[in-house]
Amino acid sequence: MKLPHGPQSPAFVQMLQWIFRPMPLMTACAERYGDIFTLQLNAPVVFTSNPQALQQMLTSDTKEFDAPKDWNTVFEPMLGKNSLITVDGEVHRRQRQLLMPPLHGDRMRTYGQVINDVTEQVISQWQIDQPFCVRSAMQIITMRVIMQAVFGLYEGPRAQELESVLAAMLNESSPLRVVELYFPALQKDFGPRSSWGRFIRRRARVHQLLSEEIQERRDNPDSSRTDILSLLMEARDEAGEAMSDEEIRDQLMTLLTAGHETTATALTWALYWIHKSPSVRDKLLAELDGLGDCPDTNTVFKLPYLNAVYSETLRIHPVGMLTFPRVVRTPLSLCGYELEPGTVVLGSIYLTHQREDLYPQHQQFKPERFLERQFSAYEFLPFGGGVRRCIGMAFAQFEMKVVLAKILTSWDLALVDTRDVRPKRRGLVTGPDRSVQMVVKSQHQVKSRTLESSNI
Ligand code: HEM
Repeated sequence: MKLPHGPQSPAFVQMLQWIFRPMPLMTACAERYGDIFTLQLNAPVVFTSNPQALQQMLTSDTKEFDAPKDWNTVFEPMLGKNSLITVDGEVHRRQRQLLMPPLHGDRMRTYGQVINDVTEQVISQWQIDQPFCVRSAMQIITMRVIMQAVFGLYEGPRAQELESVLAAMLNESSPLRVVELYFPALQKDFGPRSSWGRFIRRRARVHQLLSEEIQERRDNPDSSRTDILSLLMEARDEAGEAMSDEEIRDQLMTLLTAGHETTATALTWALYWIHKSPSVRDKLLAELDGLGDCPDTNTVFKLPYLNAVYSETLRIHPVGMLTFPRVVRTPLSLCGYELEPGTVVLGSIYLTHQREDLYPQHQQFKPERFLERQFSAYEFLPFGGGVRRCIGMAFAQFEMKVVLAKILTSWDLALVDTRDVRPKRRGLVTGPDRSVQMVVKSQHQVKSRTLESSNI
């Protein structure tokens, strides 16, 4: 079988480059080999950034391609064997059907007030002239928001402990952790001070807290609850069987982790770029200022310039570099290469968003490009596509806009250090290569407003 071209260096060298410098590696390969190339990563993996190839791959990922669980085992230590990410086929389809409604449409929009209140709680702690770490603040907001969506109103010591242990578990995204995830043979417990030992102890504590929560719900059933945990507990499969506690726990882990880290990172990038580019900030403030005294969250959601800023943020730094792997099911041609069944293909979201033919001066932050033209779902795809398209897409989009609007209309902020910040690998996703610090200059000259939630 002839795979697309790729580097000839030994496989372990490519693997190390992939772990430590995935973005420079992809860029170098795209410059040398073009829209499609192969890297040797434990096995040969084909990368593509060609919109037609992405369309072919993502619109037929149940026909010409599969989206199997076998290639997502790197997520298992964190999320378990029953996570939406680590199941496939019919089980995957049913679980998606169950989880979609609370993260979309009217149900999702009811979180507008929660997002607004949680943001208010966090930003009201900021003090004039005192620097703060943007990512930590955004992480607290997105964690609290997803906890409320998952558990309903969620307060008290268990909620607090869950928040802090989960955050500690996720914040430790050293290269060593990535190496451990890619090489299961290294997943050894050498005691509580060792990297893996620390991880599994924290994970055990999170599991225990989630099990206590599930048990408490079983002991005190309340049919009026509409949160995601209640939904999972009530769900029955075709044979009338309920989900086991372990299945529920893995799904909760998935939503709590996938549902906050990515959005917190994207919000950090958005605040960085808005304050790095005075003209962008001015235009955005003018748009927000035009809303009147009590804008509702649905109006905020539809603002064109805010939407352009949100899109350009995820274009320039997509957070998720890649789609999950798809595997060729029937012989097919992709970008002129004949691929055999079993070939693993990854969509490089990162490279697609850097294409000069789609995004001229791609290294510049220019929200206007999203006002000047429309990009197809295979040219701009921060949430992937097809059967594994991000289930939290609408939720993340809504949350990011509401949080940004709330912050920008409340405080006048500035970057502490205006030097460039670049993306780098953070665990299995990407983030800023150094801490983005901001400082509050004053209460915003635009009147601080309460964003009203609305269920339109
Ligand atoms: C800015 C924020 C986010 C970004 C950039 C992002 C990105 C992605 C990407 C690229 C994928 C892979 C899609 C594919 O293979 O085609 C994905 C899948 C997924 N995301 Fe997100 N995501 C974000 C927020 C969220 C949120 C808020 C949640 C949960 C509430 C979430 C839950 C998931 C889950 C469960 C999957 C796996 C879906 C499946 O396998 O069927 N994500 N996300």
